Amino acid sequence: MDLPDDLPVRHVLPRTASLSPAGRLAVGGCELRALAAAHGTPLYVFDEDDFRGTAREFRREFGARWPDASVLYAAKAWLSLPLAAIVAEEGLGMDVVSGGELAVARAAAFPADRLAFHGNNKSAAELAAALDGEPVGRVVVDNFHELALLDRLARERGARQPVLLRLSPSVDPHTHAKTTTGVLDSKFGFAIATGDAERAVAMALAADGLDARGLHVHLGSPIFELEPYETACEVVCAFAAEMRDRHGFAFREFSPGGGFALAYTRDQHPPAIADYAERLARALDAALDAHGLERPSLHVEPGRSLVGRAMVAVYEVGARKEIPGVRTYVSLDGGMADNIRPAMYGSAYEALSADRPLATAEETVTLAGKYCESGDILVRDAAVPRLEAGELVAIPASGAYNLAMASVYNMAPRPPVVAVRDGESRLLQRRETVADLIARDVV
Ligand SMILES: Cc1ncc(COP(=O)(O)O)c(C=O)c1O
Repeated sequence: MDLPDDLPVRHVLPRTASLSPAGRLAVGGCELRALAAAHGTPLYVFDEDDFRGTAREFRREFGARWPDASVLYAAKAWLSLPLAAIVAEEGLGMDVVSGGELAVARAAAFPADRLAFHGNNKSAAELAAALDGEPVGRVVVDNFHELALLDRLARERGARQPVLLRLSPSVDPHTHAKTTTGVLDSKFGFAIATGDAERAVAMALAADGLDARGLHVHLGSPIFELEPYETACEVVCAFAAEMRDRHGFAFREFSPGGGFALAYTRDQHPPAIADYAERLARALDAALDAHGLERPSLHVEPGRSLVGRAMVAVYEVGARKEIPGVRTYVSLDGGMADNIRPAMYGSAYEALSADRPLATAEETVTLAGKYCESGDILVRDAAVPRLEAGELVAIPASGAYNLAMASVYNMAPRPPVVAVRDGESRLLQRRETVADLIARDVV
């Protein structure tokens, strides 16, 4: 059964969310209670159609507005072998940021020419892994140390590695300080303002091991405004034109990064993918025209906006602590080990009973995690029906940076991921076991 259209959290839940015949919350035609019975909690449920649908929407909306556009999934949001296979099937590229992510992509036989390798401190071993075998499509060079290192490694292999130069454009996207990267005071990229970016262009053009294809910026995330992307287009094009005039630089590729926003809560309504695509394409065209530049190819790198809505975290209610006049804590069987975002960024989430998703709110409680930190809170001030021990709570928009940042704090085994589609479920990642937890210990 369909969920009511006017359910305030409808747009936060995965697209295929519905009501089971028993009136419980279902995703991909599978009731969350039944999935929890089969796999235990905490459990992450992945709506495959939601992910694939968003991937297609990104390709369609950017492809319709830019002749040579590509969409690279930012794998740091969440990566696994089966997800890499889905990303490849959907015709997307992938942005990886470490030797580990690169190794997963390679293990999934992800097409290497569709990989972009990011990171502000790639090691020689990681860069070698990017060059050896089938080289990655692009390395996004972040700093002078890497520029010299990559040039040497490529020349040693008789190769010329296509690269983009990551710029620090001094554009503020008004996000959380910990996720803002485009401002001058950032560890990422060559700053335009200090002259580093120009020196990097000159060095890259002179480096026999590097093929300097274009420029990259990533402003931060999540970015709910469109203006920062427009400003970035203008700043980058002005810089590219100066580099053309002073160094003969050909601006063939441009990436404005990712950071497209996701609705985590009922009151958040981020721009549609079409809006981002439209404003970016228009701003880029205007800036190219103004500076007499040809159209470069365009790569966008969505992470959270692609995978975030596709996953729901499911927890079981346990203890309840009422402090009269202060607060009521309702504890769940997961927390900061599987979702550090509330503790790290103060991120807000919605929570609803997976057993009674339409029940009216009866109280405002704090949904706490089970780990040994006072800051282990999943949802502060959740308006929920009175939750009893054993009831299931669903926290939507849990696909991005939850499991990717998950830890084994308090020796918590990391939760499994189950994909659902058309009433069928399949395990994508099993629950971590105690054997996994001690496997590295040497006795
Ligand atoms: C270079 C780069 N591209 C893309 C992303 C993805 O950001 P988001 O998941 O917010 O889309 C990030 C996030 O840190 C990034 O650093």
